[in-house]
Amino acid sequence: MNAVKVGLLGLGTVGGGTATVLLRNADEIQRRVGRAIEISHVAGLGIAEQTIVDAATTKLTEDAFEVVNDPEVSIVVELIGGYTLAKDLVMKAIENGKHVVTANKALIATHGSEIFKAATEKGVSVSYEAAVAGGIPIIKAMREGLAANRIQWIAGIINGTGNFILTEMRDKGRDFDDVLKEAQELGYAEADPTFDVEGIDAAHKLTILASLAFGIELQFDQCYTEGISKITTDDVVYAQELGYSIKHLGITRKTENGIELRVHPTLIPKKRLIANVDGVMNAVLVQGDAVGPTLYYGAGAGAEPTASAVVADIIDTVRTIDAPVEYKVPMLGFQAGSMSSEPVMAIEEIETACYLRMTAMDKPGVLAEVSEVFAKHNISIEAVTQKEPAQGEDNVHLVLLTQIVKESNMSTAIKEVENFDEIIGSIARIRVEQLG
Ligand code: HSE
Repeated sequence: MNAVKVGLLGLGTVGGGTATVLLRNADEIQRRVGRAIEISHVAGLGIAEQTIVDAATTKLTEDAFEVVNDPEVSIVVELIGGYTLAKDLVMKAIENGKHVVTANKALIATHGSEIFKAATEKGVSVSYEAAVAGGIPIIKAMREGLAANRIQWIAGIINGTGNFILTEMRDKGRDFDDVLKEAQELGYAEADPTFDVEGIDAAHKLTILASLAFGIELQFDQCYTEGISKITTDDVVYAQELGYSIKHLGITRKTENGIELRVHPTLIPKKRLIANVDGVMNAVLVQGDAVGPTLYYGAGAGAEPTASAVVADIIDTVRTIDAPVEYKVPMLGFQAGSMSSEPVMAIEEIETACYLRMTAMDKPGVLAEVSEVFAKHNISIEAVTQKEPAQGEDNVHLVLLTQIVKESNMSTAIKEVENFDEIIGSIARIRVEQLG
């Protein structure tokens, strides 16, 4: 059989990794696929300087549209990121009848519905394994391996940069900005690192996982998103003392009232396997009604781990390249006409236990006042600890764990307590999940 020709858009961290893996493992891949896969056309900025592909056999260009319009190319691999140019290129590739592979979670989470519709109409596939949790084959697991199940919930550490920062802060007491800089140098962080630290990247990925789990439309704008930038070393230490780790989690759960879709720092019991997923590693815990809990673990960022997922998608695409679209696995795992309209719940409606940390004047009666507010709002306190002030300071830290409480009740109580003269500044709230 003839070789399948692939066009690469982008030769940065992931593009470079993809080309490297495709070239290095070409023989092994051909043994798996039954035909050769050739990188025939590559677009990238400063492409003349590149040293990864052989310029004698691969066309090189700075204009990505040349690749998308190249009649020889059957599969376009979009690895430039972003929502605008990437979307135009992907839509043009589809219009030209090319299959698409992308690692672009932002693109899929925000424009996926439109892209999948266009692809289905044109009879081509759009694959995006590398968009969620880097090298972990979680899309394949959700769409195929777990297809027998009603998925009940998912909780995932799905941003490698954030997990790397939290781990280094906890283990080495390193400064937030210093670790972020290292993550950027290692090629883990997004072009705009606020996407990592403010939870936007994780929200993109969770949006995709929720659609795969529950057969709902992609609804990034409904995802509650909170990052790790307000987590302090004190919180990390206090959580440890209470038997918890702080992890930045994406959580989606089917409830009687709708679908929870939320990204935020979370206290989870230290004894859970997922609590021990450190550094740039990602993990996704999926609870299915038939299978029970399953855990998927691997590198969530980096050139070759992400390339592993991109190349797997290229291989899958080649294997089914001539199959009619109705014989392929649906792009979101459910048939397009069978999507559910179950609503995504507002964050105020969800219920979780909470960790609270407040700075209080060290005076008699403060704790009683705080407890009174909580009792008024029907919030049960599970544990309270007072942390002695540092030398030369008068104020203490009060650390509370509550039982499960409705988010809106907790917010009202927090506001009331923050109004007390004896409470200094704002109260830190971190949601608590048992995940078991
Ligand atoms: N910036 C992302 C992360 C890269 O740190 O997880 C992989 O999507």
